[in-house]
Amino acid sequence: MQKAEATILDLKDVTVHRGGVQVLYDINLSVERGEFVGIVGPNGSGKSTLLLTILGELMTRTGTVNLYGHAPATRKLYGKIGWVSQAASNLPKDIRLTVRELVRLGTVNASNMLSFFDQRREERVANAIRLVGLEAVGSTDVSKLSGGQRQRAVIARALASDAEFILLDEPLVGIDRNARNALLKLLDQLCHDEGKTILMVSHDLAAIRQTAHRMIYLEETIRYDGDTAKFPGLEELAALRGIRPVHDHEHGHHHDDHDHSHGPKEDE
Ligand SMILES: Nc1ncnc2c1ncn2[C@@H]1O[C@H](COP(=O)(O)OP(=O)(O)O)[C@@H](O)[C@H]1O
Ligand SMILES: [Mg+2]
Repeated sequence: MQKAEATILDLKDVTVHRGGVQVLYDINLSVERGEFVGIVGPNGSGKSTLLLTILGELMTRTGTVNLYGHAPATRKLYGKIGWVSQAASNLPKDIRLTVRELVRLGTVNASNMLSFFDQRREERVANAIRLVGLEAVGSTDVSKLSGGQRQRAVIARALASDAEFILLDEPLVGIDRNARNALLKLLDQLCHDEGKTILMVSHDLAAIRQTAHRMIYLEETIRYDGDTAKFPGLEELAALRGIRPVHDHEHGHHHDDHDHSHGPKEDE
């Protein structure tokens, strides 16, 4: 599904304030169709804020955000953007919803809301469930799933919407290593086989590095943006942050669980 390079997201000189405080500044970022971009950075560095700004949920103080040639959050973008929020898999335990029902909710949009039954919708639901490998639990209550399965169900919901551009905020939190690897593999396949574009935030540097083609290190502004293979080692990162590392950790690749992910739990 190779298409000519097309910029689907473009941020220029973006500044964002929250609660009167500047949390992002000088953000210049563009993403091409088919890219898998990982965004890393410590807690409170503005990762979620950046995604919410791209989605149009937060206003920019200065600068512009352009999504498929539009300002964010316009009707024209309906269905194009899939959003898997931080703690998305912490679905309420007191509502009864099967996996299939959850995924079908992703297909509800302004144009089909009033249609009773739509064959194409059902196909999209089945296809999304298959893509994430949850066929066997389609009729199971979401509350009965493991953390990794729940996360995949939430991703299936985004896929069922036919979204071309999927933004995920910390999808690896709270799932075990096997589930994490399966999820990363799935996301990679979606990019390669389905032509999706993925922007994924994680503070699990080791995990994201296994999969993303391009990495961004964000700490109030973008301090690194480039090939994953050239992503700076921890010491260089510390220099980017102006902080000396306390321990001189290894610099090799694929060291499992060696990351920033064991900090305090985020409170949103
Ligand atoms: N609702 C809010 N109101 C005011 N400030 C906020 C709000 N949410 C987050 N912040 C602040 O914005 C900064 C960036 O937060 P966030 O984008 O959530 O970081 P990250 O996702 O990288 O952990 C932090 O300093 C945080 O305290
Ligand atoms: Mg966050």
